[in-house]
Order: sequence, then structure tokens, then C-alpha cells
Amino acid sequence: MGVSSGTPSKASKDTLEMILLGPPGAGKGTQAKRLVEHYRIPQISTGDILREAVDAGTPLGDQAHKFMARGELVPDDVIIDIVEERLRQADCAPGWLLDGFPRTLAQAQALDAMIERMRCRLNLVVLLEVSPDEVVARNSFRRSCPVCGATYHLKSRPPREDMVCDECRVALVHREDDKEEVIRRRIGVYMEQTSPLIEFYRAKGLLQSVDGHLTMDEVTREILDLVERARPAENVR
Ligand code: AP5
Repeated sequence: MGVSSGTPSKASKDTLEMILLGPPGAGKGTQAKRLVEHYRIPQISTGDILREAVDAGTPLGDQAHKFMARGELVPDDVIIDIVEERLRQADCAPGWLLDGFPRTLAQAQALDAMIERMRCRLNLVVLLEVSPDEVVARNSFRRSCPVCGATYHLKSRPPREDMVCDECRVALVHREDDKEEVIRRRIGVYMEQTSPLIEFYRAKGLLQSVDGHLTMDEVTREILDLVERARPAENVR
């Protein structure tokens, strides 16, 4: 995908460009943090970028907040520009892991165009499959660290000390969009606007699915296997 004929791609066995796809609470953020540590590439989470903007009270944050609080998507043009700017930063040279982007067909098509312009090569799209009931259960009990972004689950992965981040030692927060009615709206939005991407990437031969109900460690192992099978064997394609 994405490389004009005659143009050398920068894709290599040493680069990794991948997407984590799945409903809210599927474990994208949890797995992304493990994968970026393993492969030493940046995690680009549009949700985290938007939440930071909301917390900082920037114009982007003010614009995004009303959509996020309702469980709806921020407009495509806003988010596409943010991602392109981020992918052009120097730390993305060895690759990147997109978490929460793309989320609409327009975003996926825009990403294709970015990849073409930047002479990258998307290696893999991993779909984490989780049932709607599990999504509600996970997100209702999720608490996050406002400093490092680590996520905990009050039942299955509680912090060592009640409501305090193990690493940063600051109080954990409950996301505004993790109220049950907003979670259900986010599931609906995922089904309507994001699930068509499953077929989009399957048709390109890039999609692999993982059962997101497995334990966190099992999911990580499955994704690592998929990455190793998906990366190009030679340095230049
Ligand atoms: P975003 O932050 O991207 O939210 P999301 O996609 O809804 O995903 P979540 O962060 O809720 O879940 P996750 O899959 O990362 O799961 P996690 O690892 O935390 O987006 C938020 C909002 O921003 C959107 O609604 C939208 O408004 C806006 N936005 C963002 N990107 C956008 C875009 N591209 N376009 C337009 N708008 C955009 O895990 C969840 C819980 O489960 C945790 O408690 C975790 O500990 C636990 N858990 C994880 N894995 C397991 C496991 N295997 N077993 C048991 N528990 C587990």
C-alpha cells in the first residue's frame, strides 16, 4: 500500500507502522503501552491528545469537549490535521502505533493519503474483539492516571494503593465519558462509524483479529506474534 511506483519506501524490518482498532474499552490503550515499550515507537492516541487539550483549556480542547462528553466523534477535519502533524515529528521515524485513529472511513482514506505522502507502509491493523457487555463492565470500572495515562480496572487490575497510580503516586480519575449512558452511546458510534473499517482493512489484507476477552498478557503475546509475521523481511521493498 501507499508507495508510488519507482519511489523507494522507508518501510523496513526495523520500522513498524500499525493500528489498533476496536470498540471503547477493548484494551487498545493497555496494549499500546506495552507494544510501544517493546518496539520503542510512539503511541499516538487521539483520545489522549484530545483529553490533554481539554485539560489544558486550548481552543482544540474547547471544541472537542462537547463531542467527547456526549460520546460522539470529534469532526474528521480537526482530527486528521492533528494526526498528520504528529506523524511528521522526528520520533515517528522508526514507526508509530495509532490508537483510536482512524475511526471513520474519511479518516482511513486520509491516513492512506498521509502514508503515501510520507512514504511509509502500514504493516498491520489489529482488531481487538470484545462484546458490548464486556465494554460496559470494563469502562465502568476503569480508572486512569492523569499524569502517565496508565489505566487500571478496579476489579481485574486494581492499583496497589486504593485509587492511587502505582507509578506516579497521584490520584486516579474516572473519565467523564465512562458513565454507563455515554459508554452505550460510544458503542453505538463505534458500530455505525468505525466498524466499517474492519472490511476496509480486511480488503487490503492488513486486518488481523485478536480475542480481546483473553487476559492482558495473552492478548499481548498474540499481537507480538502477528507483528512479527506482518513485518517485511527485507530492508527496502
Ligand atoms: P478514546 O480515548 O480513543 O476512547 P476509546 O476508543 O473509546 O477507547 P478507550 O480509551 O475507552 O478504551 P481502550 O480500548 O483504550 O481500552 P483500555 O486499554 O483503556 O476516545 C475518547 C473520545 O475521544 C471519543 O469518544 C471521541 O469523542 C474522541 N476521539 C478520539 N479519537 C477520535 C478520532 N479518531 N476521531 C474522532 N473523535 C475521536 O481498557 C479499558 C479497561 O479494561 C481498563 O480498565 C483496562 O485495565 C481493562 N482491560 C484492558 N484489557 C483487558 C483484558 N484483556 N482483560 C480485562 N480487562 C482489561
